[in-house]
Amino acid sequence: MTERTFGLAQPRYLESASMNGRERMLAALKGKTVDRPPVWMMRQAGRTLPEYRAIRAGRSFLEVMHDPAIASEVTLQPVRRFGLDAAIIFCDILIVPAAMGLNLEFIKGTGPVLGPVLRDAADVAALKTPVAERDYAYLLEALARTKEELAGQTALLGFAGAPLTLASYMIEGGSTRTFTELKSFLFGQPEAAAELFDKLADAVGDLLLAQLAAGADAVQLFDTWAGELSAEDYERFAMPYNRRIIARVRQAGGTIMLFLRNGAHLMDAAIESGASGLALDWRMDVDTIIQRLAEHQDGSAPNVLQGNLDPAALFAPPEQIRERVRRLHATVDGRIAHIMNLGHGLHPNTPLTGIEAFVEAVKELG
Ligand code: CP3
Repeated sequence: MTERTFGLAQPRYLESASMNGRERMLAALKGKTVDRPPVWMMRQAGRTLPEYRAIRAGRSFLEVMHDPAIASEVTLQPVRRFGLDAAIIFCDILIVPAAMGLNLEFIKGTGPVLGPVLRDAADVAALKTPVAERDYAYLLEALARTKEELAGQTALLGFAGAPLTLASYMIEGGSTRTFTELKSFLFGQPEAAAELFDKLADAVGDLLLAQLAAGADAVQLFDTWAGELSAEDYERFAMPYNRRIIARVRQAGGTIMLFLRNGAHLMDAAIESGASGLALDWRMDVDTIIQRLAEHQDGSAPNVLQGNLDPAALFAPPEQIRERVRRLHATVDGRIAHIMNLGHGLHPNTPLTGIEAFVEAVKELG
């Protein structure tokens, strides 16, 4: 199978600006304001596109993910169609629990199902230690192929789940609304929880470093369930492990974005996390965070923001989407480098016209 058998042959949008997407993205990640904000979308790969659905017909999500040629193709699809400045590799955060020995399935209508779930210290002790080059070989090859295809024109992003979010799936066994199993474990068995988070932090750090070595220009740490903990509990159970992961990546010279979903109450910790940049959820007030960042002048604070348009705004009429993009750009007002993005992942049934309006509106800012 070759990589060229699916999708559109030509980018829909031809760039005329002096910078290419990768240059624009890398400049923003270094804290520089450029001709216009670079643009990509969380969960842009494998959600909305008819060309993705065509590939998925007859293949499971895990089959697509484990085949480097197909995973690379799915990664490139939104870049070709919309002319985005960054590609995010098609994979999933749950590859880490799977490499630690949990069985992982994706069930239509239910989402991920993992098992056996963790219940005590013995379960944590029995977890395997992943070896990145062996356990994620398919992902590292997909990154290398994608980097070659992008030919320096578009930035390539890797990612991983943060320990709290991964622990949630490993203890709950899947998605949840209440997080009672997770919290019973954290609050009732804090030592076993610390041991689990320790292992997860090591595994996530190894994974991110391997992705950077395989060609990712930057990585993003997704803490989807950050907002479920109070600021005090987040500092106790989750943030030290995020900081450890971030420090490892940065010591290796890597760039890392931190996404704390529903994390407005965690922003002081996020500012002090050591991350290169913060990906903001749509509930965050952008002006407030810019002002707080301005109070941290010691050079260690994040120097770029990413986000934070409500993903559901892409269901609005195109003119309203354009207006929201212009308003967000005006709010940032050149005070900090900004990567235009959504405040969470693209919804699977987002109209393509909404996505097009979003990307076009960003390009019109130049
Ligand atoms: O961003 C991208 O486009 C790259 C690929 C990517 C996937 N998952 C592919 C995927 C990324 C970055 C993720 C991250 C991820 N996975 C997160 C963090 C980001 C977020 O959305 O909050 C989380 C919590 C997961 C766990 C997960 N994986 C869930 C809850 C589900 C089921 C529901 C869903 O999101 O679609 C998955 C499956 C999954 N991961 C799919 C894809 C394309 C759908 C699988 C299918 O087609 O059935």
